Amino acid sequence: MVEIFTDEFLTYRVMQLLGDNNFSCRCMGQGVIWCSGSLGLVHQVLSANLLFEVRRYLDKYILVFPDNCDRCQQVVDAFFSNKSFDYDQSVDQFRNIENINNLFSIVRSCGLSENATILDYGCGSGVSASIALPSSWTMLGVDRCADMRCLASANGLSVLSPSEFNVSYLSHFDAIFSSYAMHLVYSTFDLRALWQSLRENGVFVANFHKGYGVKRISLFFEQLGAVVVSAPFSGNVYDHGPYIIFRKGSK
Ligand SMILES: C[S@@+](CC[C@H](N)C(=O)[O-])C[C@H]1O[C@@H](n2cnc3c(N)ncnc32)[C@H](O)[C@@H]1O
Repeated sequence: MVEIFTDEFLTYRVMQLLGDNNFSCRCMGQGVIWCSGSLGLVHQVLSANLLFEVRRYLDKYILVFPDNCDRCQQVVDAFFSNKSFDYDQSVDQFRNIENINNLFSIVRSCGLSENATILDYGCGSGVSASIALPSSWTMLGVDRCADMRCLASANGLSVLSPSEFNVSYLSHFDAIFSSYAMHLVYSTFDLRALWQSLRENGVFVANFHKGYGVKRISLFFEQLGAVVVSAPFSGNVYDHGPYIIFRKGSK
């Protein structure tokens, strides 16, 4: 059985296509479809027949993205609100820990002040809370998914909802890092809020899983005045995709 996530408008189109190809499927709610068959075959049929991006995710799921950023964000939200309960079991935590350690060392190399305030953007279940930081730093997390925020809080991370984040943290953070989230962030409203929460001369550092989103997001931040630099990283067990540093210059 394959679970497919899409947005409310594409649900019917995806079900129709699967039915036409002799798969049996059920709609489990707007944007969530269960389909009998192998992941590979279902993926093949959807990608051959839809003009939209069809992405395999975590080796178990399929995400069908529409051609509009806000609707793509709805797909991501549908996925995490349905799957947060077993997210930690679905991922290899060592991968995320190695990645967050790399992001921290890039952030450190950017020369932050002793009492830096940093943000884990798309903090998920709060893996970053388990990693040692200079004790004088303050770290917060933000995530769109309420269930993920609960897990992060239970893991000891201080977390903000997007609405808290959007109103109270203008020019607040010395550094922001994002682990395995940027390939899933589509909302331009959210990206703008992220940038606005960074202080002048602050840095935003992220990995881009499989390179997804790197062009789109680099262009977006460049248009807001970011200086974009890639930060090669070697000696890893896992491939985390490219690391990019976005620096907010004082203009
Ligand atoms: C793959 S998880 C990574 C979690 C964590 N950073 C880690 O490395 O373990 C991606 C997270 O990004 C969050 N996310 C996706 N789009 C977001 C957005 N626009 N703003 C904030 N969080 C977002 C999801 O809800 C999810 O919890």
